Amino acid sequence: MTEPSEPSFSTEVQPADAPGALGQAAGLLAQGHLVALPTETVYGLAADARSPDAVARIFEAKGRPADNPLIVHVDSVGMARDCVAAWPSAAEKIAEQFWPGPLSLVLPKAVTVPDIVTAGGATVAVRCPAHPVMRGVLAKCGFPLAAPSANRSNRLSPTRAEHVVDQLGGRIPLVLDGGACDLGIESTVLDLTGDTPTLLRPGMISLGQLQAVLGGVVSAKLSAGIGPLKSPGLLPRHYSPRAKLVVCGDLTAALGQAGEATHVIARKSSPNAWPSERWHRLPDDPDGFARELYDTLHRCDRLGAETILVQALPSAPDWAALHDRLNRAAGT
Ligand code: TXA
Ligand code: MG
Repeated sequence: MTEPSEPSFSTEVQPADAPGALGQAAGLLAQGHLVALPTETVYGLAADARSPDAVARIFEAKGRPADNPLIVHVDSVGMARDCVAAWPSAAEKIAEQFWPGPLSLVLPKAVTVPDIVTAGGATVAVRCPAHPVMRGVLAKCGFPLAAPSANRSNRLSPTRAEHVVDQLGGRIPLVLDGGACDLGIESTVLDLTGDTPTLLRPGMISLGQLQAVLGGVVSAKLSAGIGPLKSPGLLPRHYSPRAKLVVCGDLTAALGQAGEATHVIARKSSPNAWPSERWHRLPDDPDGFARELYDTLHRCDRLGAETILVQALPSAPDWAALHDRLNRAAGT
């Protein structure tokens, strides 16, 4: 585990649409500094992907284990191809359909990608993001940006600039504030290096959508046991709030035993007897739920929640990525 560095910056938070903000970010990145900025999924902590020293700062600021590889963000298929040693037809088809967007592709890495980016591995994850702020910064930089989610290691991903400041304030020079992220959970990660395309991390681009384009795609859970763990984001406890999170099949029964510091996340309104400030109602559709989930978990943490009870989600396939994130947050 890399120990987090001591705070040594006064972190500036700039509205992303302020005059010169994107240029300021690109200037810092070109000098090897870190910048946190919004993408359509979650906020990322970016560094020049070509520079081992710049990328090392990401691991320090996050306290990220050195064996957890980073996603490289690109502005085009052309830039993606510069980062990989092979661009199979499956990558071409997927990029045509889903880029720019919330999908990362794992491919053999080009020799030019520093080892620290891929945690010493022979593969690299590449993603072409859709968010105009991230795209604007990439365009000004002209080089790829390594960017994990802009949180301390193992904590919840940030979906607002203030979540980034809570976790990384004092450790990075600049946060571009682009408001709340549209999608709210991290990208789908698809591994194209094996015989069969393998879903390593579910996201808002679903297994079904990938299968519709590629035919056979397996989920990493089905292939578990075939090889070594390919993605640390698959570890059971990840993406967690500080509070203990419990998914409740029978919410009414759980409420009966709940203590003072218990918050509830549900897709329905609170029973009359329950204090409204400890009841967080989220939309009853996967897109709306994803958009608000992390913000709500961050708020529960800020309000001092010890336990968060979450109403169990529907079992329909379009909720799959949210099941995944709740299970990881619960450590189950
Ligand atoms: O939506 C996202 O993907 C956000 C935004 C900022 O783009 N980024 C993000 O990065 O979630 P991070 O580092 O928090 O998660 C990246 C995941 C990790 O689980 C990592 O292990 C996996 O992708 N990963 C990265 N490179 C990989 C590789 N070469 N092989 C397998 N898994 C990889
Ligand atoms: Mg992360």
